[in-house]
Amino acid sequence: MNKIIDRKFCVAPMMGYTTPYARNLYRILSKKTFLFSEMIATKTLIHSKNTQSIIANDNQNPIALQVGGSEYDDLQKCAKIAYELNYNEINLNVGCPSKAVQKGSFGACLMQDKTLVKNCLSAMQINKNIEVSIKCRIGIGKNFNYNYFEEFIDEILKSGIKIVYVHARNAILNGFSPKDNRNIPPLNYDFVKKIKEQFPHITFVLNGGIDTIEKAMDLSKIHDGIMVGRLIQNNPFCLRKVDSIFYNDTSSYKISEDTIIEYFNYIKPKIGTDSIYRLLSPLLNIFFGVADGKKFKIHIHANMKNNNFEKLEKIFLSFVKEKSLLIH
Ligand SMILES: Cc1cc2nc3c(=O)[nH]c(=O)nc-3n(C[C@H](O)[C@H](O)[C@H](O)COP(=O)(O)O)c2cc1C
Repeated sequence: MNKIIDRKFCVAPMMGYTTPYARNLYRILSKKTFLFSEMIATKTLIHSKNTQSIIANDNQNPIALQVGGSEYDDLQKCAKIAYELNYNEINLNVGCPSKAVQKGSFGACLMQDKTLVKNCLSAMQINKNIEVSIKCRIGIGKNFNYNYFEEFIDEILKSGIKIVYVHARNAILNGFSPKDNRNIPPLNYDFVKKIKEQFPHITFVLNGGIDTIEKAMDLSKIHDGIMVGRLIQNNPFCLRKVDSIFYNDTSSYKISEDTIIEYFNYIKPKIGTDSIYRLLSPLLNIFFGVADGKKFKIHIHANMKNNNFEKLEKIFLSFVKEKSLLIH
């Protein structure tokens, strides 16, 4: 039986960002935050041989694997893969509005077929040791329609799932890019509050527009959990405060040279298996808002060109030694 996991603070799935390397950094900074992989298409997960740089789970639990797809057999196979990789949860993406994803019949366009989504979620439930969840929007198109959202949730919950992550804005499927779809449709947190009142036994995690830890704190008093994306994309180091603020741990994590050593020890065996940029990019945000950070960053970029990992580790170490108190 899956032990009870607290999803009070979650890092959103982000393609190109929540890589295994980034997740490893997140886990160094916070032991409790609930993590997500990037989205992976079901067919890629099943058929491609080069998925490790997306799906590897090096004890990064608690963690969910997010998939995009709408074919029952494929989804079931993906749930088995996620279970074998020791993920705690498999999550169905019903929120991505991109044209490519719509072409593959997954993502936000699935909100238009609630029965199909219910059946997808049912197919994914392979055993009690891996939770099944959904990440969706509050609707489709320009207008708010609570009834539409409520009917969608009511139907998909018949699959038996207990966890719903809601990006609290509509998805606009035509004329808007995925980036526009994260900014232009207005947020509506009230829908998430209201749906929770109707389904009190379900965990609803609020996502969208939570851009400071303070805001996350306030919202977590009202909601079962909150999920943040771009806040962490811009500055993963703010995760060091999460265990103390959200999980009542006695002290917050202190960034030190050990942080860098632990991170490099993780990526060293992976050198050559992925690009130097993907291996190191999670650490680059360490310079965020720190005086002279730019100088170090330029130095880092110059050494990335030479693939000089030893030198790179030294530069990060000297930065942290000099500036650890200033890292946000
Ligand atoms: C670069 C980037 C990639 C994203 N990739 C995914 C993804 O793979 N799956 C998904 O469900 N959402 C994805 N999203 C959306 C986020 O999970 C989240 O719903 C959105 O950014 C709103 O949260 P925020 O305001 O805290 O950033 C992505 C967002 C960004 C910025």
